[in-house]
Amino acid sequence: MEAMAIGLDHITKTFLHRVKGRVTAVDDVHLDVEPGELLTLLGPSGCGKTTTLRMVAGFEKPTRGRILFGRQDVTGLMVNQRNMGFVFQNYALFPHLSIFENVAYGLRVKQMPAAAIRSSVTEVLEMVGLTGYEEQFPNQLSGGEQQRVALARAIVIRPQVLLFDEPLSNLDAKLRVHTRVEIRNLQKTLRITSIYVTHDQEEAMAISDRIAVMNRGRIVQVGTAEELYYRPGTDFVARFIGRINSLPATARRGEVSPPRLDICGHPYPQPGGGRQAAAGEAVRVFIRPEMVALVGDPAQGDFPARVTARTFLGEKVEYVLEAGGAPLGATAYASAATTLHPPGATVGVRLPAEHLMLLPEEKDLP
Ligand SMILES: Nc1ncnc2c1ncn2[C@@H]1O[C@H](COP(=O)(O)OP(=O)(O)OP(=O)(O)O)[C@@H](O)[C@H]1O
Ligand SMILES: [Mg+2]
Repeated sequence: MEAMAIGLDHITKTFLHRVKGRVTAVDDVHLDVEPGELLTLLGPSGCGKTTTLRMVAGFEKPTRGRILFGRQDVTGLMVNQRNMGFVFQNYALFPHLSIFENVAYGLRVKQMPAAAIRSSVTEVLEMVGLTGYEEQFPNQLSGGEQQRVALARAIVIRPQVLLFDEPLSNLDAKLRVHTRVEIRNLQKTLRITSIYVTHDQEEAMAISDRIAVMNRGRIVQVGTAEELYYRPGTDFVARFIGRINSLPATARRGEVSPPRLDICGHPYPQPGGGRQAAAGEAVRVFIRPEMVALVGDPAQGDFPARVTARTFLGEKVEYVLEAGGAPLGATAYASAATTLHPPGATVGVRLPAEHLMLLPEEKDLP
């Protein structure tokens, strides 16, 4: 079966909330998911991810806008009229049905012949690594196994669209990593166009073809993990994807335009690409911790800083420094030959100008 695009065409959802009054949970979200793509909606709690997904699924009707599966407008269709599978945080298995019957359920509803049901269920249970579990019941399975049953149940109907809402959040850290790799492999093998919801940025980066970062009901930026990490459009995206330093800076007075930026007393050229600070303007400049270089001799750096904490993590060392009264994080990739800077030491900091970013500011959710 050909993979199909999903279109979210300027969808808005407002609720009448008993306490908060009228709430715009989703605000003019416009997005095209490519055929076979796994796109993740990523954002803080309450930003509208689940509401967006529920509109795609048909559990919620948009106040405005349309949902398209391929060229078909499905906005008015019921959940069971959209050819789609979904996997939620709580596995929602039928406790009184065996694993086989849990997976077979959607096919029985479609009145598929028994022999075809048996072969389809057997095939997908093998795909998710649960061959031999057919006669077990959900309460005899671990959380990770139950979630794989939920996945098998979602794909057995051969859906054209797969929707995931925080499917891994009930699993422990190790199983989360393992299961997300499985989901990713299966989604790529079957080439089912998928929308995946999470508030975990690492999970989003690991599993997605592209990520749509949401804030306050809106999509702030869409891109691959690399694009969002290296070229965030706003400070919100920069802080939400990976870790980042935010440093106070002032544009120098009396310099030809564009004036250089003072950071901890050292002048840096203004970052290109984005907006520019005017002479005398106070701004914040962003830099990723792994771009911050430390040298043992403070005189060899752009400016000095004091090591306040050091965490040795094997292949890397994370430092927290204090420079000009503000904290600064630096990550250094280490080998056995690397000299570590001890807490309390004064070191030199170098900020490569090409990795500094000046970004438009954006308010978070309250
Ligand atoms: N049925 C409803 N009635 C009223 N308000 C609602 C309803 N459903 C969601 N909301 C509100 O819409 C906003 C978005 O909620 P949503 O569940 O989509 O967020 P989310 O991004 O999935 O958050 P989380 O990460 O916590 O799951 C919230 O402010 C929520 O209170
Ligand atoms: Mg949610």
